[in-house]
Amino acid sequence: MSGREENQQLPGTGLIAILGAGSLGRLWAGYLSAGKVAFVPRHGSADVSGADSLSYRLQRFDGSAASVSIPWLTSSSEQPSVLLVTTKAGDTLGALESRLPELPCDTPIVLFQNGMGSQQAVAERWPRRPILAASTTEGANRPQQGQTVHAGRGETRVGALTDRARPFVKPVVQALAASGLKVHAEPDIRQRLWDKLIVNAGINAFTAILNCRNGDILNSRFYLERIDDLCAEIAAVLEAEGGRPLTPAMIRERIETVAQSTANNTSSMLSDRQKGRTTEIDFINGYVARRGQAHGIEVPVNQMLTERVQQLSADPEAGRPGNQNKP
Ligand code: PAF
Repeated sequence: MSGREENQQLPGTGLIAILGAGSLGRLWAGYLSAGKVAFVPRHGSADVSGADSLSYRLQRFDGSAASVSIPWLTSSSEQPSVLLVTTKAGDTLGALESRLPELPCDTPIVLFQNGMGSQQAVAERWPRRPILAASTTEGANRPQQGQTVHAGRGETRVGALTDRARPFVKPVVQALAASGLKVHAEPDIRQRLWDKLIVNAGINAFTAILNCRNGDILNSRFYLERIDDLCAEIAAVLEAEGGRPLTPAMIRERIETVAQSTANNTSSMLSDRQKGRTTEIDFINGYVARRGQAHGIEVPVNQMLTERVQQLSADPEAGRPGNQNKP
């Protein structure tokens, strides 16, 4: 191991800062609240609304519930030891552009975004900072205001995106494991992000277009007529990107295993549509399409799914629950 890869202690006194107070950010903050944790307000947003802290009820996976109150980081707060970024993929670069100048150059930054593309954009923008990515299968939602539910127990893998991040992987994993959630160091985080992207590329857009739960796509003609072509496109792009090769049949099996095991879930993309929020389609099928085009690979199904979700997002009526979209 080179000197650069030896473990390096986290700077500061152990404060974990979280940028992005959505479901995932609140889940981590709640589980980490026995230690020092704070939310980072976004410049120019209504995040703080004058309050010193953000209070909510966290329903843990074991059924227990606790009220938590997480302070907002202020200019007089101590410097964080690590910054977790739990913003939506499309908001990440902008949110970091406004907050990063205030953060010392040796503070590790852990990106929790769905899909791919936003993490690479951050690592390319700040190649000399310690930038890590996390791929998580923890599920959280906010069924009503003031409540966060840990809806699915999973695990989180953390790995380095930039060279400067390598010595921080183990200390970051240790800091996050204090939450009691399962956290592991990941030597090949790019491959992990692809593994998750494959499943999201095969489920999310179909649920958003069909306005249905994950399991229901498996009985839909719209899905059945396209899934093999979609898997062939993903397999070709993955190989061109230098990822671990998978056959289209293996990709389809992975997608359908998850669609079955989460059959009653509303996917994050359908939920975004139902709530009128921007979806992450550009970082899921849109990313596969862009990478395919860069390699000269034809990606008509990924392209079509991306365009359909973008069009549906422009029509707020189409995504309402119970409103079956015509595929
Ligand atoms: O994005 C999601 O909702 C989830 O990653 C998945 C796998 C589709 C299950 O709901």
